[in-house]
Amino acid sequence: MTNETPKFDFTGKIALVTGASRGIGESIARALSALGGKVIIVARKMEALNNVAASIGSDGGNAIPIACNTGHPEEIAALFARIKNDYGYLDILVNNAATNPYYGPAIDAPEKALDKTFEVNVKGYFLMCQYGAKLMKGRGNGNIVNIASIAGLSPVPNQVIYGMSKAAVIAMTKGLARELGPAGIRLNAVAPGVVETKFAAALKSSELIQRLVRDQTPLHRWGKPEEIVGAVLYLASELSSYTTGTVLVCDGGMTS
Ligand SMILES: NC(=O)c1ccc[n+]([C@@H]2O[C@H](COP(=O)([O-])OP(=O)(O)OC[C@H]3O[C@@H](n4cnc5c(N)ncnc54)[C@H](OP(=O)(O)O)[C@@H]3O)[C@@H](O)[C@H]2O)c1
Repeated sequence: MTNETPKFDFTGKIALVTGASRGIGESIARALSALGGKVIIVARKMEALNNVAASIGSDGGNAIPIACNTGHPEEIAALFARIKNDYGYLDILVNNAATNPYYGPAIDAPEKALDKTFEVNVKGYFLMCQYGAKLMKGRGNGNIVNIASIAGLSPVPNQVIYGMSKAAVIAMTKGLARELGPAGIRLNAVAPGVVETKFAAALKSSELIQRLVRDQTPLHRWGKPEEIVGAVLYLASELSSYTTGTVLVCDGGMTS
């Protein structure tokens, strides 16, 4: 043990960030790259990914865009086959790509919305964890950060299914942290509050919800994608080396 203070430094690390073509995932990918990481950025649409990769490249970073629908198991298998072939290992996985196709009373929700939400937010995250951890396990270390939501801690009306899926992400993170700790793999979750992205655009268009968010948030405002990044960097770095199975809430105090 040295007395040297650990740093936010991802030099030489290979990180994979899903949902990295915009919003919170893009901010996370940019930050990991700015701190030296080689970042594999994943989303469904290649054009947006290419733009982010080019922009990271022009800032001096290194991003590798790969299209993958994380709701489709065969695409996840192909993604990891490519990573194994091209790099042979993975240091950091950030599961961030999620969906919320239904807003309304849970008892009226179409079964399809339930299936889609769980395919991407739960099965997708879980399969990514499985493949990611298998690549990390042989090396005796690895780090997984799952982006959950405060909806998984304090479910809200009209978003019950989404909240259920995010509660599953939290349980997945804690359970896998216990199983994989002995192999040197840490898993933690970040639970954002309401953040200004395309994902929250429907909420943003409602005057009532705008006011509710402001009134119920001690910081009296929505979060910005880059305000979630610090939590992810901390959990993905050596600065949090004694932390696993935890949930870090970034919500302007909404659930305090
Ligand atoms: N914004 C909020 O208020 C808020 C609050 C709490 C938690 N969160 C969580 O934060 C995370 C990121 O949300 P965000 O607000 O940044 O969303 P966003 O701006 O809508 O970005 C979503 C990203 O995920 C990708 N994506 C969506 N479905 C995908 C799929 N099936 N496979 C692969 N990629 C997919 C999108 O690209 P493509 O469309 O090209 O696939 C995009 O890159 C999510 O886990 C969300 O649940 C957000």
